Amino acid sequence: MQTNPSPQAQRIGVPREIFPGEKRVASVPDVVQKLIKLGFTVAVESGAGEAANCSDDAYRAAGAEIVNGAAALWASSDIVLKVRPPSEAEVALMREGGTLIGFVWPAQNPDLMQRLVARNATVLAIDCLPRTLSRAQKMDALTSTAGVSGYRAVIEAANAFGRYFNGQITAAGKVPPAKVFIAGAGVAGLAAIGTAANLGAIVRANDTRAEVADQVKSLGGEFVKVDYEEEGSGGGGYAKVMSEGFQAAQRKMYADQAKDVDIIITTALIPGKPAPKLITAEMVQSMKPGSVIVDMAAEQGGNCELTVPGEAVVRHGVTIIGYTDLASRLAKQSSTLYATNLQRLMEELCKAKDGQAVVNMEDDAIRGLTVIKDGAITWPAPPLKAPPAPAPKAAAAPVAEKKSGHGHGAGAPMSAKALTIVFAVAAVLFWLIGAYAPAAFLGHFTVFVLACFIGYMVVWNVTPALHTPLMSVTNAISSIIAIGALVQIAPPEAGANGRPDGLILWLAFAALVLTAVNMFGGFAVTRRMLAMFRK
Ligand code: NAI
Repeated sequence: MQTNPSPQAQRIGVPREIFPGEKRVASVPDVVQKLIKLGFTVAVESGAGEAANCSDDAYRAAGAEIVNGAAALWASSDIVLKVRPPSEAEVALMREGGTLIGFVWPAQNPDLMQRLVARNATVLAIDCLPRTLSRAQKMDALTSTAGVSGYRAVIEAANAFGRYFNGQITAAGKVPPAKVFIAGAGVAGLAAIGTAANLGAIVRANDTRAEVADQVKSLGGEFVKVDYEEEGSGGGGYAKVMSEGFQAAQRKMYADQAKDVDIIITTALIPGKPAPKLITAEMVQSMKPGSVIVDMAAEQGGNCELTVPGEAVVRHGVTIIGYTDLASRLAKQSSTLYATNLQRLMEELCKAKDGQAVVNMEDDAIRGLTVIKDGAITWPAPPLKAPPAPAPKAAAAPVAEKKSGHGHGAGAPMSAKALTIVFAVAAVLFWLIGAYAPAAFLGHFTVFVLACFIGYMVVWNVTPALHTPLMSVTNAISSIIAIGALVQIAPPEAGANGRPDGLILWLAFAALVLTAVNMFGGFAVTRRMLAMFRK
């Protein structure tokens, strides 16, 4: 990247994906336009977007150059955007010192990494994005892909299932709703829960991370607990391998669910580990004939013992779907989301909008993604620094205390001595105010202190995800100012003929109108935001 000394714009290339059955494409016409606005030139291989309903003409209209053949495209591109990891033949076509951005999976593809090193390449693996960085969410292609795939898993299940999802009472009889069980409530699992619930099914879900229970409920599902106490979080939003005791209790619960439900969708995975075998052959056998299992973890070995990766098979009267291309089955949608993730990444790489991408290894997100830099392997990235504690300056001593989950401030708390001093100073100040301030001030001051306290407690106890709606509702409530304006328009002590003078009346009226906008706008925004959390 910086190896190209030319002041000319760098050229981004989008080849046709050659992996069998892959329909996605790494950029779509709308995004091509935005890449060009960043100063790059864009070349697209002829036919690259065909399977995702993006024609050559659409790319051309967006400003891209259409290039015939992969060889010409790879050879002329400074930066290649791809979906699937490149094949050996594709790497051979790559320009010496060029840049590749796409899924790479360095842990699973050591040979590919060596081939890319031999090309002196710079490689940004979108699968290595540090997903816990909130700034990185806009680039999180794993999440957008899993969301699409979770949706599609339900559609595949519905296609193979011989009944409605929703319950119906018809003249011909009563149809019970389908029961769907989702194993693993990560990104794909949550998307599947929402989709199945929207189709009218009864949805249950389980995950080893108990913290997802609320998310399951908010999407219309029921969280089924394993009857065994063990914390399942392994950090960074991922699970850990559970104890034998937990696994036995989980198997029992899954066996009970298998007998009861019509559809099972499994998404359980711990990154870097083979998929846990949650659905045994006996459980499949115990399911009702005509039931369906969609095993999303098929590519990592499958959560079901009888899954055949890439295929749909029928075992013991149950259809077991092990497709590994669920995102590709919604090619237009997933290509658009993926292209947008890459566009956001390009914006980060090209802040100057001058068509020159700069890999800034000081940036945590970019550092995490960069698995090879100018031919040198830089993977794995060092672990992210812990987020800064709110009050880090207290002492040089190591932070020994753990965040307890509630109460005041996380991280290093004030020492007992400092706290005592603060309280003592506050007490003296209050005493002085009480002794010398006028009585009227004291009343207002008390209300003010209480309001601060209540406000602090309310905001502190609200889930961070709800802070934005909370802000808008607070905004609405802050329009209490309206009462002041009303009092000015019709002062209570004014009596029948005591109208305020014209200027005050109009000022109060204007205040009332503006406040009303704030108030009703705030409530309207809150309503819309809260609706996003509802089914
Ligand atoms: P994720 O990491 O967000 O979710 C996995 C969930 O499984 C986590 O919530 C984790 O706590 C849970 N889990 C782990 N072990 C468990 C256990 N023993 N019991 C219950 N829950 C357990 O992953 P994401 O992005 O949702 O993907 C889910 C799966 O779908 C992965 O295997 C992924 O590779 C696969 N996938 C498949 C696609 C396809 O086309 N078939 C496309 C996209 C994703």
